[in-house]
Amino acid sequence: MIERYRDFLPVTAATPVITLLEGNTPLIPAPSLAAKIGRDVKVFVKYDGLNPTGSFKDRGMTLAISKAKEAGAKAVICASTGNTSAAAAAYARRGGLRAFVVVPDGYVALGKLAQALVYGAEVLSIQGNFDQALEMVRLIADRYPVTLVNSVNPYRLEGQKTGAFEVVDALGDAPDWLCIPVGNAGNISAYWMGFNQYYQAGHSRKLPQMMGFQAAGSAPLVHGQPISNPETLATAIRIGNPASWELAMTAKTDSKGTFRAVTDEEILEAYRILASEEGVFCEPASAASVAGLLQCRDQVPAGATIVCVLTGNGLKDPDVAIKHSGNQIHTGLTANVEELAKVMGF
Ligand code: F0G
Repeated sequence: MIERYRDFLPVTAATPVITLLEGNTPLIPAPSLAAKIGRDVKVFVKYDGLNPTGSFKDRGMTLAISKAKEAGAKAVICASTGNTSAAAAAYARRGGLRAFVVVPDGYVALGKLAQALVYGAEVLSIQGNFDQALEMVRLIADRYPVTLVNSVNPYRLEGQKTGAFEVVDALGDAPDWLCIPVGNAGNISAYWMGFNQYYQAGHSRKLPQMMGFQAAGSAPLVHGQPISNPETLATAIRIGNPASWELAMTAKTDSKGTFRAVTDEEILEAYRILASEEGVFCEPASAASVAGLLQCRDQVPAGATIVCVLTGNGLKDPDVAIKHSGNQIHTGLTANVEELAKVMGF
């Protein structure tokens, strides 16, 4: 990713590039979603769950870890609802750095915890939420020789803006709407920066409207104030006080976009539609972008091109998948062809 977009990124010949060949993820047409909206709308999903650690965080982390290494860091730290910790762990370990990850006890999806452990992170699980974890790691990075790799580290957003570049490269222009889940509000800010830079460089003729979607129990940007006890089944975006609040507001205002809340039920409905009708398995937080689009379907301009960012892979959260698939295993069958055929309805 850094090689492909080197001209737009703060790297020099002296930067040791730590990469797992992230980025270049597919922009997949979603005809079933388009049909639900009608009016000749085109819908695509940017499936960033196909990155090396299964989320968009790899775009930011390849740059943040490369720059940390360039500056001589020996260790990095982040607070995380799971995906940042997986990406930080993978890239830090590949670069030979220690990775400390601080996570909210009991609120990280199983696949993400498994990743952090196997990649060799030092996992610190606190009795507290993401917002408290972020406050702590900011203080620790101020006091001790460890580099903060949350999205308050500017290299994270610089890397993540490449998602917008890829969308424009694939479509030949910016979309009319960019629908994106919002938690700590780094990614929406990064995409807006990317669309603007590409527009100014003459790669697109327009800018998209930025449509940010938060989980209803964790929607501080929608309500205009922080939330002390955020809740949602989409644990990746269970965040009450986003670090990039101002940047995200600017993205919304300048793009004439919107912030909306989607309920856990709407998220799960979108999650099931994506998997069972489009064949795309994302994690619950990612489906917030599609849930938001479906909620706003009456406002979509005729003929619009819409991109929904699917930030993480569905395999990250097997618990939600099994519990909320809306499907069930036919259990207790004997190894008998007639019995199977009967269950199959033949
Ligand atoms: N989708 C997924 C799958 C995420 O993991 C996150 C954030 C978001 C959306 C929201 O992005 O924070 O830039 O607004 N996950 C962070 C983490 C908080 O620790 O992995 P954002």
